[in-house]
Amino acid sequence: MRNLCVIGAGYVGLTTGACFADLGNRVTLLDIDEPRIQSLRAGQMPIYEPGLEELVRRNVKFDRLTFTTDYAEALADAEFVFIAVNTPSRADGGADLRYLQSAAASIARHLTHPLIIINKSTVPVGAGDLVADIIAQHKRNGATVSVVSNPEFLREGSAIADFLNPDRVVFGSRDPEAAQRVAQLYLPLRARIMITDLRTAELIKYASNAFLATKISFINEIAAICEKLGADVKEVAEGMGLDKRIGRAMLDAGLGYGGSCFPKDVKALEHMAAAAGCHPQLLRAVMEINQDQRWQIIRKLKDVLGDLRGKSIGLLGLAFKPNTDDMREAASVDIAQMLQAEGARVKGYDPVSMAVAAKAMPEMLLCEDPYELAERCDAVIVVTEWNEFKQLDLERLKRSMKKPVLVDGRNIYDPEKMDELGFIYLGTGRGYPMDDITSILSVHPEPVEGSQRGSRLHRHQPLGRAHAVQGHADLWQGRD
Ligand code: NAD
Ligand code: UGA
Repeated sequence: MRNLCVIGAGYVGLTTGACFADLGNRVTLLDIDEPRIQSLRAGQMPIYEPGLEELVRRNVKFDRLTFTTDYAEALADAEFVFIAVNTPSRADGGADLRYLQSAAASIARHLTHPLIIINKSTVPVGAGDLVADIIAQHKRNGATVSVVSNPEFLREGSAIADFLNPDRVVFGSRDPEAAQRVAQLYLPLRARIMITDLRTAELIKYASNAFLATKISFINEIAAICEKLGADVKEVAEGMGLDKRIGRAMLDAGLGYGGSCFPKDVKALEHMAAAAGCHPQLLRAVMEINQDQRWQIIRKLKDVLGDLRGKSIGLLGLAFKPNTDDMREAASVDIAQMLQAEGARVKGYDPVSMAVAAKAMPEMLLCEDPYELAERCDAVIVVTEWNEFKQLDLERLKRSMKKPVLVDGRNIYDPEKMDELGFIYLGTGRGYPMDDITSILSVHPEPVEGSQRGSRLHRHQPLGRAHAVQGHADLWQGRD
């Protein structure tokens, strides 16, 4: 049993603290947010994360997990101090290190004995050295400190499983012995361990997130091509993913990535690279494509509904992804703002993030369930692919809508079935084939003399579901 302190009781800190406690360590979780600590002490989770409440309860019961706002108390017996505070974006795209700096200064002021400080927050290269400098500057005695970077790769919604079954655990430090000691804490996980230098560990985290975001933007670009040419991006992703070198993960086309990490981390890496004199053009394209994924929804809606002024649009799902209540950089927030700017009325429903949504989007009308959401709607957009949306009574949903327009931002429905049900179904990257692709293929419109077979390109047959967009706004004349 080791004595650990975890600073920051958010998604990463709470998961880290609860999991290390469950592995038999004694953990003190510290946060400066008093209400958050009060609610944790009362057994209430400040965030929605599957399995977390039970894990916390069990370890509190066995005295392995305690909560405090007091640095002196938290550090009193600690051998290892994990920092898991937020590192949001600054206005210029760089990472805002105020919380990290403040945590480091507080550690220094309450330092009574040698410590290993482990940075789990996602921070720019050099931040580990910054923490060491702050400690040296603020400490009041000769106690020594080693700084280890130990980036976290868990995902919200599956945080506990990801923490306990990592693909790898990375450590970087100027003090290899300290890195080895931290690695010992992870031995029960039997995970692949990689020990490297401090700066390399810091960069591994950004490079990993940026690469995953690149996969998403790549498939979103392919989705746009699929829409024009009449292919199905889901099957394209399937076909690509079967190649082990590519892999199927992170190839779901949709409304673009959101959440508290990809958007800020791609921005921060781009900022860091540019500041270092590099030309991060791929990262810039990744961000541009991501932003365009939000806009394409507005374009699609205008195609079928015309002017959006006064139209009622329902957002099915508000969290940035399923199984979380987190709405940081959620597609729903961007899309709601864009729709409101167009003069549309926006309604929303989410199975778990309604309280968060009420704060994040006060102008939005929040509904009790998907059917109430659909009532008198001109269109419903699937924004988050919650499992419960996959089994909706779609006939009932359609009956209550003013117009049966369903924009499937996450491709959860079968286009053919939606057609049969009478929806105007607009998936993502699933065929709005152009009438004629001869110009794209640069094929001569007439066959080569003497050959009537094989050389003529058949006029592309639009899929049934694509008829909707061809009629555009006039399709609805008289139905208001
Ligand atoms: P969060 O916003 O959920 O939680 C951060 C917590 O730190 C807050 O409760 C805040 O009150 C507390 N805090 C801030 N300053 C403090 C201080 N000086 N002392 C004590 N507590 C302080 O953040 P998060 O989502 O858990 O992310 C934390 C870090 O981990 C970020 O750098 C993030 O990029 C990274 N990360 C997040 C995830 C994720 O899925 N959320 C995954 C991997 C890495
Ligand atoms: C992501 C990474 O997956 C984690 O490894 C990392 O630790 C974390 O960021 C972090 O640094 O915070 P997370 O943001 O929780 O985790 O969620 P993901 O499941 O990766 O999804 C991120 C966004 O990408 C979501 O908006 C999701 O809808 C979108 N996404 C994901 C797609 O659009 N397509 C996909 O194929 C996968």
